Amino acid sequence: MNQTITAFFITIAIAACNDNGTKTNTMNTSAAQTVNHVSAMPWGETDGRKVQLFTLVNQKGDSVSITSYGGTLVSWTSADRSGVRSSILAGPSTLEQFLSRPPYFGAIIGRYGNRIGGASFTLDGKKYTLPANDGPNTLHGGIKGFDKMVWDAAIPDSTRPSVTFSMVSADGDQGFPGNLKVSVRYTLTDENEIRINYEAVTDKATPVNLTNHAYFNLTGDVKNLVLDHSLTINADSYTPVSATLIPTGVIAPVEGTPFDFRAAHKIGERIEQVKGGYDHNWVLNSKGGKLVKVAELTDAASGRKLEVMTTEPGIQFYSGNFLDGKFKTAAGSLITKHSALCLETQHFPDSPNKPGFPNTILQPGQTYQSETVYRLSVQ
Ligand code: GLA
Repeated sequence: MNQTITAFFITIAIAACNDNGTKTNTMNTSAAQTVNHVSAMPWGETDGRKVQLFTLVNQKGDSVSITSYGGTLVSWTSADRSGVRSSILAGPSTLEQFLSRPPYFGAIIGRYGNRIGGASFTLDGKKYTLPANDGPNTLHGGIKGFDKMVWDAAIPDSTRPSVTFSMVSADGDQGFPGNLKVSVRYTLTDENEIRINYEAVTDKATPVNLTNHAYFNLTGDVKNLVLDHSLTINADSYTPVSATLIPTGVIAPVEGTPFDFRAAHKIGERIEQVKGGYDHNWVLNSKGGKLVKVAELTDAASGRKLEVMTTEPGIQFYSGNFLDGKFKTAAGSLITKHSALCLETQHFPDSPNKPGFPNTILQPGQTYQSETVYRLSVQ
């Protein structure tokens, strides 16, 4: 164990606070607990609520920082092939920047990740109107989606680096029906995986589609564009979109198109053939339900490999087309177009208006459950 890690292990007490500020779990990191760790620190305030930053560390010395504002992944620091540590997540590093409406860096997205066309849907004969925040459509849950909420936090398990965020999205929140109780658990495993477990229950039928909006750059430095990263997606088809990025409803084969990532391709190789860049939903061959590997991203320069496993039937590969240099990383580098990419596991966009797509309506009495794992290694 190197010195940096040892120093981290002698950290202070850990206290996760719920909404009332009461401690839900306190763990003293004594010398006996030299394995897996979580630490918490104050990270500012918003909406009259205190925000915290949690850091999870595993036995390999990887660390992940996550804030209770938006349940947002702020950094994931790991060694590259030559042992140099850097964060493979692009995004800002202060609460102040996260409050200035960034493009969802690392956040939990809900109640409905991705787009709902025409900012409305009809459910059980009733039309629901949502705020339009992306042209005529609703993107990522509306004007104040789950990414902009302060979540309650708890450390569920003192034996593993894990933190659980929870909150209630009230009946009518952003136009959606039903009180939705949501919890999202992040775990950093010793295999250098971030496991994300989503759960939700409702008291009225409502659409639910939860995801995480991490932006990856496997080089650990956003000055290197991700166009040189290679991507594989295990999907024979994708959902073509309209001009405002709403699926047409067609499930189209990827064969013979720049959307065919069944064998690895560099992202920059065919991106010019895709108007605006990649920002599409792939229809995974795994079909959802079981935790299956669906995608792999590699970077030859750093040797890093990111594998994505999910129980979801779809994945949005977004090549950072709208990143415009407005936000900076902790190192002071501007996050510009194609300097990071997202692999958002999900149900298909606009499913509430597309009867042919897999169902996204959660009924009272049912529990929404979804799991996604991002596994990092070097080769
Ligand atoms: C998602 C969308 C993109 C874009 C980003 C945020 O990935 O699909 O079109 O809106 O979020 O900028």
